[in-house]
Amino acid sequence: MSVECFVTGGTGFIGQHLVALLSAKGHTVRVLMRRPERLATLREQVDALGGNSTRVFALAGDLQSDGLGLSPADRAVLKHAGVLFHLGAQFAWGLSMEQARAVNVEGAKRVALLAAEQNSRLVMIGGFMLKNHEHLRRIGIDPLHPQSTDWPAVYRRVGGYEGSKLEAHFATLALMAAKGGEMTVVHPATVCGHSRTGHILEGQPLVALIRNLVQGKLTAVPGTARHWLPLVTVDHLVDLTAACAFDPAMAGQELLALDDQTPDLRELLAQVAESVGVKSPRHYISLRWLKWLLKIAPVARFLNTQPEALDFIQTTRFDTSTLEQFANRHGIARPDICESLQHTARFVHSYCL
Ligand SMILES: NC(=O)c1ccc[n+]([C@@H]2O[C@H](COP(=O)([O-])OP(=O)(O)OC[C@H]3O[C@@H](n4cnc5c(N)ncnc54)[C@H](OP(=O)(O)O)[C@@H]3O)[C@@H](O)[C@H]2O)c1
Repeated sequence: MSVECFVTGGTGFIGQHLVALLSAKGHTVRVLMRRPERLATLREQVDALGGNSTRVFALAGDLQSDGLGLSPADRAVLKHAGVLFHLGAQFAWGLSMEQARAVNVEGAKRVALLAAEQNSRLVMIGGFMLKNHEHLRRIGIDPLHPQSTDWPAVYRRVGGYEGSKLEAHFATLALMAAKGGEMTVVHPATVCGHSRTGHILEGQPLVALIRNLVQGKLTAVPGTARHWLPLVTVDHLVDLTAACAFDPAMAGQELLALDDQTPDLRELLAQVAESVGVKSPRHYISLRWLKWLLKIAPVARFLNTQPEALDFIQTTRFDTSTLEQFANRHGIARPDICESLQHTARFVHSYCL
């Protein structure tokens, strides 16, 4: 059955893959675009990723504008949307609280309001840190009582991007509960390139890590032997996200999209290094010390990263049994994360350096 879908963030990395998948499955996909004149480029990308671009359309708008900046005509078209996928976000390090909130929190609330008003299912992309309750409590969020959070203090601890993702999640859940809307949240780990082609876009955190390694800037492994950077491939993530959207049992549920076979960080770097023929670091540098170094602007510039990027490297292990059951129920196979990582490393080496 063909369903009308609305996608925010459809021009981004995960979004392009999701739009390709939905259109390939025969759905009509309307993408919120700040620059709708780039529709032709998006359609080319969608076709290159195996989608059907004739089913992809642009709706001019902006997450920062009231009513998403949609024209009354586009708003009328959207009334037929069965599912609203919210992926749009300002995804960058070093954002101020105000910048991050304007797009990531207020934008998410606007999309949620639209979904609730027109009775569409909302599928929102969160982040795996929301499933690490120990971490949430450490930074001042009680997941059972998020309304009592001192948000400016959280932003000071984790930075603008992550603070706004956490705040957006709880604000959206509250809004949908108040309006009686139907919502599903998918929480991805750091996203790896496509499992077969390695396709990934510039600007992704994993690209920065691979680039630093290839350019010889990563001479020690951040953390300890117990630290890892949990990954999920982009194709697996969009398979899971699309399945969530059309599964009535997933209304009101959250799904962690994380591959627990991701190797520890030292092994991950070793696999990347081997794929592109460079040396991998053997010794460790403490995260606290590295964060301190990254507070020195020239060091952060040289490494092209910010201290907040290190928060995703951690020792916590996650329970993925619900994910496995969900994937099995939908016949979604988990790609080999090590092979996917090697394809991604070669893709970055060929196209992103
Ligand atoms: N990639 C990861 O490792 C990862 C991990 C966990 C969660 N996530 C979440 O997954 C979602 C998608 O991530 P991604 O990696 O695909 O990000 P991305 O490649 O940076 O794409 C961001 C998208 O958001 C759109 N956007 C930004 N500001 C906007 C605004 N004011 N109005 C409308 N659209 C706007 C961008 O559109 P333009 O083309 O106009 O810039 C782009 O389509 C985000 O919510 C992110 O937080 C990502």
